[in-house]
Amino acid sequence: MKEFDKTIMVTGGAGFIGSHLVRLFVNKYPNYKIVNVDNLTYAGNLANLKDVEDMPNYEFVKADIVKDDEMQQLFGSFKFDGVIHLAAESHVDRSIASPNEFIYTNIVGTANLLNAAKFHWKDEPEGKIFYHVSTDEVYGSLGETGFFVEETSYDPRSPYSASKASSDHLVRAYFHTFNLPVKISNCSNNYGSYQFPEKLLPLFIHNIKNNKPLPVYGKGENIRDWLWVVDHVRAIDEIYHRGKVGETYNIGGHNEWTNIDLIKLMCSIMDRKLGRDTGTSEKLITYVKDRAGHDLRYAIDSSKLQNELGWTPSVQFEEGLEKTIDWYLENIDWLENVTSGDYKKYYEEQYVDR
Ligand code: NAD
Ligand code: TYD
Repeated sequence: MKEFDKTIMVTGGAGFIGSHLVRLFVNKYPNYKIVNVDNLTYAGNLANLKDVEDMPNYEFVKADIVKDDEMQQLFGSFKFDGVIHLAAESHVDRSIASPNEFIYTNIVGTANLLNAAKFHWKDEPEGKIFYHVSTDEVYGSLGETGFFVEETSYDPRSPYSASKASSDHLVRAYFHTFNLPVKISNCSNNYGSYQFPEKLLPLFIHNIKNNKPLPVYGKGENIRDWLWVVDHVRAIDEIYHRGKVGETYNIGGHNEWTNIDLIKLMCSIMDRKLGRDTGTSEKLITYVKDRAGHDLRYAIDSSKLQNELGWTPSVQFEEGLEKTIDWYLENIDWLENVTSGDYKKYYEEQYVDR
């Protein structure tokens, strides 16, 4: 008798969103075996999964999606029924400094997974799912009005978003050309626990805590649509199980903030939590050189997902932000560990000339 009903490969499960997805699936589906395939780059951290590492339906495999033979071998030995593909280089600033990493991991890595799935599923495609996790950044930059819908033309403008757009195109091509059973979702900016402190929220929480300058790019007028990471992985769960094969779903929180308003809100919450006088942390705001090609605005229309699958965000932004700040303040050890070593070098290179 088979020990598990299904075996699912989650790539990038040691990263920010991946670790939340692994946690959800391991706990919610004891009848699934979840195999976390991650090569532990600077952004991958097994400490993100301490609470599930001993669960009987969880296994970690250190492997690199850019290595075609490693992916073929894993498909051969685990006989995956599904793939949820999150592994990627994910930070726009790093893609500006070093685009090739993004091209290898995000494009070649995705192609390797598609080829492995195509080869190993060719005799029994029924019930298999290749789920590709993507970003709203593939759609480019909005003006002051309008929203990204699933039909919005792709217009990526950073090496990161261009590499994600390429991988989305490949996934769709394998559906149309080879009947590979794929699903894609494009999500807006996530926030929550276990996010690597190169991204806006954890970086600024860390800096506010340590009384370091808050480097706001340009005038801080860029707009992002923020979604709690747990709501993102809830949406992935719905789409994986009930979404239509071959379809794309946009995921977003209808929660737009200019960077500067969001940063000021974070400062005021942290003043209160750290027992500082009101206005103390805002003094750390420092306007620096803008990011090259900085997209002005992202905003997602997620009505397809809401209407077809009944998904809605579970948490109001202010509540989610408080919870997130509390988590980082309560997990200072986690933050200190990930900001030692190579992080310091990255930080100096990224911010020294700004
Ligand atoms: P992350 O950078 O926190 O984690 C990426 C993970 O992938 C890490 O664990 C890393 O070790 C792993 N990885 C990188 N290269 C690998 C390789 N060659 N082989 C195996 N593993 C490798 O990223 P995240 O923020 O959790 O994003 C996960 C996915 O979600 C990405 O595909 C990203 O494009 C997408 N996404 C992110 C956001 C966001 O706001 N963070 C929003 C929408 C979509
Ligand atoms: P980020 O978290 O890198 O996400 P993305 O670029 O993928 O949306 O950045 C969010 C916004 O914050 C973006 O408009 C850039 C801005 N930002 C800063 O102003 N300063 C910073 O140090 C960082 C990392 C980002």
